[in-house]
Amino acid sequence: MENKSILQAYPQTGVASTCRSYEEYTAMFNLVGTDWNEGPVLDVAGGASSFTAQLNARGFEAYAADPFYEGLNEDVIAAGHKEIEVSSAKIAAGAAMYDWSFYGSPEQHRKLREHSLTLFAEDFRQDSARTKYYSAALPNLPFESGTFGLIVCSHFLFLYADTFGKQFHEEALTELIRLLRPGGELRIYPLITLKWEECPFISELLGELKGVDLIEFLPTGLPFMPVASPLLRLVKSV
Ligand SMILES: C[S@@+](CC[C@H](N)C(=O)[O-])C[C@H]1O[C@@H](n2cnc3c(N)ncnc32)[C@H](O)[C@@H]1O
Repeated sequence: MENKSILQAYPQTGVASTCRSYEEYTAMFNLVGTDWNEGPVLDVAGGASSFTAQLNARGFEAYAADPFYEGLNEDVIAAGHKEIEVSSAKIAAGAAMYDWSFYGSPEQHRKLREHSLTLFAEDFRQDSARTKYYSAALPNLPFESGTFGLIVCSHFLFLYADTFGKQFHEEALTELIRLLRPGGELRIYPLITLKWEECPFISELLGELKGVDLIEFLPTGLPFMPVASPLLRLVKSV
């Protein structure tokens, strides 16, 4: 579905804090069959996603970092609920643009997000939450170099390219590579902007990147956006 004559940019001011689920993450990042024991996992720009909660519930070590976690627990959770209202209305209004093969319908899309937010909220209310959910912002994250086996970033880098620009992305990727252990990997999705256009500086940026052995584009298992995007996989040099 790429009839660009009916495509409208996603109407967004500022950065939204959405709450994709573990199921959406594993599909989106093509992580089905991943060995989660390869080292701690970090969800950067995790928002109100339940990915970290659901990985921890499965017995794996996972963390999230996002400036969204600043403030009182209930305020953060309430902001997650508000974003579901706002984004569901926008998606319903533009429903004809989207590929519904994964979600089925706008109603099911909303249900999945509500369930994800419930799981996030349960986890975020725990006394231990602040040892898993770090209020922190790229391009400077409060973790030791070489800590993570896998870092994922869903719907922040590249999507908001018009707001954050090339230099921010360069610094952000350098920071994320610093945090990976040798051989660890970073996956980012999507690589298009809110105008559904390829990020204008991605090729140049990837060409200049240091400290990686492999840069590849893989298909996502979560088709949804009006214009298809692959996911980016980077492997840190050993
Ligand atoms: C669209 S949400 C994505 C949330 C979640 N990853 C998901 O897929 O549902 C984008 C997130 O980026 C976060 N964000 C904004 N600026 C950031 C920064 N400088 N570093 C890290 N995260 C940031 C926002 O707070 C927001 O939660």
